[in-house]
Amino acid sequence: MNQAREHWGSRLGFILAASGSAVGIGNIWKYPHMAGQNGGAAFTLIYLICILVVGLSIVIGEFALGRKTQLSPVGAYLAIAPGSLWKWVGFLGVGSAFVILSFYGVVGGWIMNYSFLSLKGDFSQLTGNPEAASALFNSFITSTWAPLFWQLLFMMICIYVIVNGVKGGIEKWSKIMMPTIIVILVILAIRGLTLPNGMTSLTFLFKPKFEDLSASAVVLALGHSFFTLSLGMGTMITYGSYLKRNENLLNSALWVIGLDTIIALLAGVAIFSTVFALGADPAEGAGLIFVVLPSVFPQLPGGQIWGTLFFVILFMAALTSAISILEVVTAYFIDQKGWTRIRSTILFGGIITVVGIFCSLSLGGNLNITWFLGMSFFDFMDYLSSKYMLPIGGMLMAIFIIKRWSVNEFVKELHTGMNSTKISSQLVTILLSIGALVVGFIILNEIFDKLLGFPIIG
Ligand code: PHE
Repeated sequence: MNQAREHWGSRLGFILAASGSAVGIGNIWKYPHMAGQNGGAAFTLIYLICILVVGLSIVIGEFALGRKTQLSPVGAYLAIAPGSLWKWVGFLGVGSAFVILSFYGVVGGWIMNYSFLSLKGDFSQLTGNPEAASALFNSFITSTWAPLFWQLLFMMICIYVIVNGVKGGIEKWSKIMMPTIIVILVILAIRGLTLPNGMTSLTFLFKPKFEDLSASAVVLALGHSFFTLSLGMGTMITYGSYLKRNENLLNSALWVIGLDTIIALLAGVAIFSTVFALGADPAEGAGLIFVVLPSVFPQLPGGQIWGTLFFVILFMAALTSAISILEVVTAYFIDQKGWTRIRSTILFGGIITVVGIFCSLSLGGNLNITWFLGMSFFDFMDYLSSKYMLPIGGMLMAIFIIKRWSVNEFVKELHTGMNSTKISSQLVTILLSIGALVVGFIILNEIFDKLLGFPIIG
């Protein structure tokens, strides 16, 4: 606690780091396959509404809580509500970081392996043959050592970035990787749209067909808006705590949400234009990235380069998100326990890697951890975090602002760093209440579905 607080070097650096956290596997992998399976544009529309109505107020809430207290989640709740139980919402965030990063690190490793395979030209054997691509993917993720090797490498890079600090690590790398992701995605999207039939992807993604919209797609879009914006575990509280007082929080939040959305849509265009041009199946689901793409890229002229670029930016997106997750844990030990950055990062990065090893092994049947609700340990960690921990964390934070911190104090914090705009406390209360209610409903719906066997909707 006696160490001087680190701060971002610039406003741009903060925005790129926060959007780097938001932009991740969720944007480039999860969003396109969810849209592909749930009616394309209709899903996109609901997703955009959720981001604006629920996401925006929670992003701003997290930023404000962090900047006000200059502390990561546990400390932030303690500073405003000393001696209360609210600190447990902070601990829930630290716990979520362990859960999410354990499987996220495994997927990060898969992505690194696929970048390498593409670079070596190995996708050429999969040309037009999704069955072969599927067999390759399954044999890789269910094997013992190869995924562990790549996961370890991914986690080591992640630890390396964090050890170098807020400005010298997180900000520096986000400033390099985020612009690279955007530029390459734009190139990939243009390349896709100029392929014969590539334009079909625009109709698919942007022309809503409401008959395709099911109730469960609405619930899915809501849950995803949380995951994609990195909300509910204090990532944005932590990043907000490295801000100085002169930052305009509303404006920064709009940038982060805007970049996150644009990148998801660009990824959708880049992927679906390629998929449509080569007549592959847009509703392939989770295998879209690792099965469909490796079999379609080699059919394009220069496919080896396009495929490699795609997986490399996916790696960068995963890395900037993974570092924001590990930073929540590191910051807790620095802020609350007075540990050094290097000690907390290496120790807890290491522990998370070990939990991740179990996630990876659970896919191969080497280690049969399937007693968790009938799913593998890997799927369970994903399920636990995105269906419960993040939504519960976000809902409790919204309730905390309304009930404990007070909306007036929160709005006062927002006005610091803002020149003219005046935000109405009533509007903020309404938005936060809608956020908390909607999220509370999603959680309840999931509990009904799992425990009673039928969802309320969906
Ligand atoms: N937002 C990240 C993604 O879209 C995932 C994430 C969740 C990161 C929670 C940090 C915290 O992939």
